[in-house]
Amino acid sequence: MHRKGLLDKLGFYAIIYLEKCRDGDKMKPRILVVGSSNIDFVCRMDRVPMQGETMISDGSYAFVPGGKGANTAVAAARLGGDVLFCTRVGNDSYGKQLSEKYAGEGIDTRFITMDRAAKTGLAVIMVEGTGHNRIVVYSGANMNLSREDAEEAFTSYPDALLLQLETDTDTVVAATHMAKAKGAKVFLDAGPATREFPLEQLGPLEVLSPNETETEILTGIKPNSAANCLRACVELMNRAFCKYVVLKLGDRGCYVYDGTHCHHLAPLDIGEPVDTTAAGDAFTAALAVRYMQNGGDILDACEFANAVGGYVVTKAGAFPSLPTLSELRAFLEKDGE
Ligand code: RIB
Repeated sequence: MHRKGLLDKLGFYAIIYLEKCRDGDKMKPRILVVGSSNIDFVCRMDRVPMQGETMISDGSYAFVPGGKGANTAVAAARLGGDVLFCTRVGNDSYGKQLSEKYAGEGIDTRFITMDRAAKTGLAVIMVEGTGHNRIVVYSGANMNLSREDAEEAFTSYPDALLLQLETDTDTVVAATHMAKAKGAKVFLDAGPATREFPLEQLGPLEVLSPNETETEILTGIKPNSAANCLRACVELMNRAFCKYVVLKLGDRGCYVYDGTHCHHLAPLDIGEPVDTTAAGDAFTAALAVRYMQNGGDILDACEFANAVGGYVVTKAGAFPSLPTLSELRAFLEKDGE
């Protein structure tokens, strides 16, 4: 879809109004993110090396703040959410730097724990010339994020809970049940998925959103056709109790299923991606913020999330690629020149 067309559809004046809302305003949803924090070691290269091959890269490298939880929290804050972040970092220099960064984004950092027993999480990210990546995560303190940590964070009475799967499974499952008890809507980004993840044990979800790889890992079905997307969604709905499944299909947009109807939404036309890192995290964050603001209009929320995902892949790195509302508006106004 063309950028300007999407801009008209999204009614950006309404969005800019939301951007100006003050803290505590009803239109600024209170969003609790329970998830991971990483420092990303990012190397750019034409292609990833083969087994046994040593390659000299003429690309670049950088240490960038990331982690699926943190990317989600920062994206939601930049897009107009009132965000609380519950995470664990190591009691090391990265842990301190990351906590300061989150606070600098206006995120409520009361529920961040500096873990004395483990280091801050680290992700090694190889980004190929095509903009696509391969990621390995050393979890460190993220795996110590406990149900007690989540329980404490729920004293903030959030409207919505955003989760990913980069922390301890028991904590993720427990948090969904706490959300039910407190009446918060749950948005689950299913990355990184494992075949064993107990979808059946989760409390009720508003939205379950895996990407293509995660869909295949969780269901055994490759979402490479309309029929397969539907089959995968049905399978996911059979296992998890959720209102909507939203499959993130990368450069094919997204696929929405509500148990009866399905919709395929085309992606934003952005040409060649620069770096796809954090696009999925930002997509889910954008979807949740917009959904909480628009009274639960899932298709409108997915259009908005598509626009944000499209923006993110045009920039390198996780945090540096996450847009504010005004950056997003300027990007959409450019109309792909
Ligand atoms: O989704 C992207 C993120 O995955 C990176 O920031 C990295 O930290 C890994 O968690």
